[in-house]
Amino acid sequence: MSELNEAPASIQLTSSGQLKHFLTVEGLSRELLTEILDTADSFVDMSAQQVKKVPLLRGKTVVNLFFEASTRTLSTFELAAKRLSADVLNLNISTSSTSKGETLKDTLMTLRAMHSDMFVVRHSSSGAAHFIAQHVTPDVAVINAGDGRHAHPTQAMLDMLTIRQHKGDFANLKIAIVGDILHSRVARSQIHALKILGAGEIRVIAPKTLLPSHIEAMGVKVFQEMSAGLRDVDVVMMLRLQKERMQTALLPSEAEFYKLYGLTNDKLAYAKADAVVMHPGPINRGVEIESAVADGPRSLIMNQVTNGIAVRMAVMSMAMSGQLTDIQKQPELI
Ligand code: NCD
Repeated sequence: MSELNEAPASIQLTSSGQLKHFLTVEGLSRELLTEILDTADSFVDMSAQQVKKVPLLRGKTVVNLFFEASTRTLSTFELAAKRLSADVLNLNISTSSTSKGETLKDTLMTLRAMHSDMFVVRHSSSGAAHFIAQHVTPDVAVINAGDGRHAHPTQAMLDMLTIRQHKGDFANLKIAIVGDILHSRVARSQIHALKILGAGEIRVIAPKTLLPSHIEAMGVKVFQEMSAGLRDVDVVMMLRLQKERMQTALLPSEAEFYKLYGLTNDKLAYAKADAVVMHPGPINRGVEIESAVADGPRSLIMNQVTNGIAVRMAVMSMAMSGQLTDIQKQPELI
């Protein structure tokens, strides 16, 4: 995490502690995370109804600024914004002006001139969403949709919602996060969220080459073997091998990784009999996970996708209302 040029978490809160940007889970209170989960729960109920829209973001413009490829995160942010009645613009920056040499600041100024109200940002550099939050006008909310290997806070919160729905109180749970911890923004955000929500025990399982140094300082137990690491866990959270972020060969081969760390039904047998399995996607079958597990009765992978919409609706509506209360306190901005 040394590459981080991290602004204090407090830039994401209003003076009264409401969310106005969502950049990282780190430093937020248990109350605020629980409010996100409770708000998301109400949107889960709404999504099951015939009419799936509420007017909370009516008249607002949300810009999805994706500097890095994405399928499920981008589409669930888009659906979330539409279900909140916002106007939505998807900008795939890798194929637009930045490839013509425009700087990030110039892109932001152009978008500012279009009076956007919220930026949802995905970028390959750690700290990109913080940078943007520091450079937008005070009435624009910024949501981090994944920055480098730093954070992916909405993914962590949709994972927390999925765990809470299936397992209840975090205090009673043993949870294992398995695989490429080193390059994973998802793992970092999951660990912060689980700590804040008071998870009973957090484990990471990975080969030495895929573990960040000093990971124990995050309050996790480290295992290098699945047999010991999965013993008696309630939740197994798999990660994708982030090959695009590996500069050197960190693994002998994918086949070797699968043999030692791939989640098969045989290895899942070490966990509790009712343990559930999660993966943020995209999954690599036969690399991180066996199809029989990914598509099996204990897999919550599709529940995670569905919950992504509700969590993103919750975060977007909370950040927008945080922005509005802040602006009301500064009448000169209106
Ligand atoms: C994750 C991401 O992009 O960080 N995926 C996602 O958001 N659905 C995990 C990954 O790409 O491995």
